[in-house]
Amino acid sequence: MSDKIEIDRDTWVLVLTGAGVSAESGIPTFRASPDGLWENHKIEDVASPEGFADNPALVWRFYSERRAKAKSVEPNPGHHALVALEEKLGDRFLLATQNVDGLHGRAGSRRLVEIHGNLFKTRCSTCERDPFDDEDLYASNEVPGCGKCAERGDFGLLRPHIVWFGEMLDPRDLHRISRFMANAPKLLFIAAGTSGAVYPAAGFVNNARKFGARTVLINADAADNGAEFHRWIQGKSGAVLPELFDVR
Ligand code: APR
Repeated sequence: MSDKIEIDRDTWVLVLTGAGVSAESGIPTFRASPDGLWENHKIEDVASPEGFADNPALVWRFYSERRAKAKSVEPNPGHHALVALEEKLGDRFLLATQNVDGLHGRAGSRRLVEIHGNLFKTRCSTCERDPFDDEDLYASNEVPGCGKCAERGDFGLLRPHIVWFGEMLDPRDLHRISRFMANAPKLLFIAAGTSGAVYPAAGFVNNARKFGARTVLINADAADNGAEFHRWIQGKSGAVLPELFDVR
């Protein structure tokens, strides 16, 4: 790799990851297959409130399959490199991920914001109960009901704690990310393994530049928002990230 990225003592590092960072663990990315379909369904249709209202059993089958896949794979050197960087930088580091596979957490990332949710958390689509840990895989025609609703004689369907297409991200997550950018004496923004196709994550690079950030994209292919970055390192995150940082 040509040259490392120097991180001096007053530089804070914000990293955004996407599906490409989990690809080397064996989890398929979203826009790799030209048709981008799952069981002949457009993902946008399944991962949506409308899709859940229309066929909750299909949606639970989709997420149960993704849960089983994510449980069957391991974090890769790209995930571990970001844990090592967090250990060196402490509160000068923050990782925002679009990935819901839980691999950053399993690798040891703690300063982590899962802006699109997590496959292994479930919540009720009706009551305000907190999301809870759930690794269960649901049979093809099973739709879990909410026990808290049932205790009150109500009825509520459980749903994956995932931000679906058309839904808003948690404002607390976005606030934490924007505060990090604003408080950084010097900001380095790195995006890795993301096509820059989905907002607001694809706009983080623009926000970071408003705070004077150096911006670097690490991606196997050109990204939709690639022109917004000062530098593009074309490559696999599992190979690039472990060799990239020179923390002073
Ligand atoms: N290393 C680096 N980049 C890679 C690798 C790799 N090993 N493998 C693939 N890539 C790149 C691809 O070139 C692609 O640009 O990762 C990117 C993955 O892009 P997407 O599949 O669009 O995934 P992502 O950007 O995370 O999608 C964002 O869209 O579907 C929704 O909510 C979902 O979080 C997801 C969001």
